[in-house]
Amino acid sequence: MARVVGAITTSHIPSIGGAIAKGRQLEPYWKPFFDGYAGAHRWLAEVRPDVAVVIYNDHGLNFFLDKMPTFAIGAAPEYRHADEGWGLPVSPPFAGDPELSWHLIDSLIADEFDLTTCQEMLVDHAFTVPMSLLWPGATTWPVKAIPVVVNTVQHPLPSPRRCFALGQAIGRAIETYDRDLKVVVIGTGGMSHQLDGTRAGFINKPFDQFCLEKLIDEPAALTRYSAMEIVELAGSQGVELLNLLAARGTLQGQVSQVHRNYHVPISNTATGVLVMANQPAIRESAA
Ligand code: DHB
Ligand code: FE
Repeated sequence: MARVVGAITTSHIPSIGGAIAKGRQLEPYWKPFFDGYAGAHRWLAEVRPDVAVVIYNDHGLNFFLDKMPTFAIGAAPEYRHADEGWGLPVSPPFAGDPELSWHLIDSLIADEFDLTTCQEMLVDHAFTVPMSLLWPGATTWPVKAIPVVVNTVQHPLPSPRRCFALGQAIGRAIETYDRDLKVVVIGTGGMSHQLDGTRAGFINKPFDQFCLEKLIDEPAALTRYSAMEIVELAGSQGVELLNLLAARGTLQGQVSQVHRNYHVPISNTATGVLVMANQPAIRESAA
């Protein structure tokens, strides 16, 4: 059976992709940020997942404001990146796993999560930057990928409770898939940031630290907020926290922190990395 081996939450700021392309990882501005990924690299090298389910928000490359699904999932054999205007190099394409996608879709819709199914899908910086961060230097990706998109962009947004429940349903769906696959779930975005309006530059370190704590031990605490309360606490783009909460929801077993890093700011944004391992819950032996 397939297994969710763990979840990783990470920033997806486009300028990180620019720093990677220009080889700036050792420069004083960037080094503390990139050093924060060593623990994630160690864990991935040890666990060697086969598939990454990447939960993120599309910023206008694949879905624009005229057609905005609340939740969408890829069911394509391949996902391509394209120029979004951030000056980033276009990533090599990502292989999909349509059979697993359709298993997830069947299971999620039976579970009353009616996602938009996408047999063609472009992936934006919120998908590609995390992949480049987690597998640095890859020219072909060592995992197959399945994109899951949450609308954190155009109101009304889904509630934190609903996003967490979606993650739980994805976790259940993965663990009923009849192939021996190790699946890592990656939630991208956050942490606190606001790019526009009178609060542009807003960062809330205490709330970010609270979220990192709660994501590990008590994610239900974060489901008590409304999406608008998260906007107030984390900024209008900090509401990308919804992606992290959905990723955490996929972990059904005993969750432990493998690695954590928090660094402020990169661009206008607080960055957090969390690697959480998922041990299967110990069942009483029937003997
Ligand atoms: C930035 C952050 C984001 O989440 C994003 O999608 C684009 C830009 C930033 O801080 O520059
Ligand atoms: Fe973003």
